[in-house]
Amino acid sequence: MIFYPDRKIFKNSRIKNMCEYRNLVEDFKEDYEGTWAKYARIKLDWIRPFTKTLDESNAPFYKWFIGGKLNASVQCIDRHLKDKKNKTAIIWEADDGSRKFVTYLELHKEVNRFANLLKSLGVKKGDRVVIYMPMILEAAYAMLACARIGAIHSVVFGGFSADALKDRILDAQAKVVITADGAFRKGKAYMLKPVVDEAIKDVECVEKVVVVERNGEDINWTNRDVSYEELIKLQSSKCDPEIMDSEDPLFLLYTSGSTGKPKGVQHSTAGYMLWAQMTMENVFDLRDNDTFWCTADIGWITGHTYIIYGPLAAGATTLMFEGVFTYPDAGRAWRMVEEYQVNQFYTAPTAIRLLHKLGADEPKKYDLASLRVLGTVGEPIDPEAWMWYYEEVGQGKCPIVDTWWQTETGGHMITPIASATPIKPASATFPLPGIFAEIIDEEGNKVKPNEKGLLCITKPWPSMIRTIWNDPQRFVNSYFSTAKKDGKAVYFSGDGAIYDEDGYIFITGRVDDVINVSGHRLGTAEIEAVIKKVDLVAENAVVGKPDEIKGESIFAYIVLKGEDNLATEVEVLQKINEAISKEIGNIAKVDSIAIVPALPKTRSGKIMRRILRSIAKGEEITQDISTLEDPSIVEKIQNIVKG
Ligand code: PRX
Repeated sequence: MIFYPDRKIFKNSRIKNMCEYRNLVEDFKEDYEGTWAKYARIKLDWIRPFTKTLDESNAPFYKWFIGGKLNASVQCIDRHLKDKKNKTAIIWEADDGSRKFVTYLELHKEVNRFANLLKSLGVKKGDRVVIYMPMILEAAYAMLACARIGAIHSVVFGGFSADALKDRILDAQAKVVITADGAFRKGKAYMLKPVVDEAIKDVECVEKVVVVERNGEDINWTNRDVSYEELIKLQSSKCDPEIMDSEDPLFLLYTSGSTGKPKGVQHSTAGYMLWAQMTMENVFDLRDNDTFWCTADIGWITGHTYIIYGPLAAGATTLMFEGVFTYPDAGRAWRMVEEYQVNQFYTAPTAIRLLHKLGADEPKKYDLASLRVLGTVGEPIDPEAWMWYYEEVGQGKCPIVDTWWQTETGGHMITPIASATPIKPASATFPLPGIFAEIIDEEGNKVKPNEKGLLCITKPWPSMIRTIWNDPQRFVNSYFSTAKKDGKAVYFSGDGAIYDEDGYIFITGRVDDVINVSGHRLGTAEIEAVIKKVDLVAENAVVGKPDEIKGESIFAYIVLKGEDNLATEVEVLQKINEAISKEIGNIAKVDSIAIVPALPKTRSGKIMRRILRSIAKGEEITQDISTLEDPSIVEKIQNIVKG
């Protein structure tokens, strides 16, 4: 099955067809650096132009646009003031349905004031600022204010626990934390400030906590806390942007890996901004008066690139939503599309599956004619959800851009271009022009159609991760030690993928020990380390199990301490989840467990996770189990899981 973009709808788009797409791909093949340099000159507002496009001398620590100077907040705001000052930059809808419209001029003032506020607290270029906020306008102002003064922001998703927040604050040695008293979800107030209090109890690096009032609930004020509302009144709305180097870090964003603690992915200023803007414009067919809605939380990379930096750099109107799709009813999303005349709707497969299940006919009750492009991100989408999205939401006329990318890639990598690419359900289709993505084996040979391989990026690209904060060796080990091409280490994404007979790319999911729950990336090692501390537990192994709504759910195999331990699954699960909720947050809660006598291990003691993954999925065991220390354990575990 293949669906073509409607020529009439896309006749004036930037990339009109596959012929134009192939020409662009060729441009990059013929002159890689020259073509990137051309776009960097056209798209970015430089304070001082760069003198060299790419520095590969210290690979894989690539540098782009050497010597260039710019400021990301200028790229997002100031340069639009000439002809877009009264255009709405951000539409914000609250949980209770109230709303605010912020023009580019107002955004400029708010960001400048916030920047001055941070300066008044002693924040300087290069300092780290942790943002632990709900989806409110001040969160957007905070990110852009950091960019304005050259402070490096690290946004931590509001669903993370105090312990997880503390780890991130300490790793980045943050000087300031920006938070809110709390916010609202489904009509009820919830709290964030107490989580920050707990997180920084014994943390010395944090000098000040800026507290924005959102829900008005009582909070505990300490002598490190300052009130946003009190200080912001005192600030001038003029703050000169800091002159930043192309390679100065714009932000850190912590993400899970297959081993150890979360990694602080470090992004640059110029390369990241360039790709945020270009992908925004090209992939979504962005036009002048479009209203763009990305439903992610700003705590994830999708929120960074496609709620804040991409849409604002492109001068669009971006919709930011505090609430949830199920409140007050299952029509919330579609009501908002109708009301704000949303042109592009970008969400995760989990949300699509949920919306489908809650109200397959809900979209029919609303006028969704404004929609032109639909998008998905974060996890593989199944053909059934894809078809419902295409037919019921997009009414058979909106291309779906199934965008494959990662925290580390900064922006889209493999995706249809709405205006050009013929799409197949559940395929991310082809790499964008400029992105050399290939499915290869470990020696760098391209795999044959329908053969699974490693999804790699074989050339550096401007918006790529620069390093892992404080841990350059881990950066090399995590991304540049698995696959080679022509003898050179290439970026390995951690994902497996296949080509079909037509060369379309289908992402098959992670091949490492990372699970993807509702589009959230979680490391099994991180969860196992928490479970191991529960006193009933002797050993454990965590795997992903297919889930109808969430894509994957978390399944844990538990070996209890003491042979005659009579603890029940319910008791153990409760204890485990209490620990996870405290150390990581509710997003990492285990859904189900199996209490087993032992784990399948090789004679050298390595846990055979692939077997455990297959058992959780109810698959046949095809791998050789004769090398196990005790091969009979596999059948025993299978029987326990089958119940
Ligand atoms: O496994 C892939 C999956 O999400 C991972 C990246 O997660 P994160 O860094 O949290 O970023 C999510 C938002 C960009 C990838 O390694 N993934 C992302 N997009 C897709 C996807 N899997 C299948 N199809 C996609 N479109």
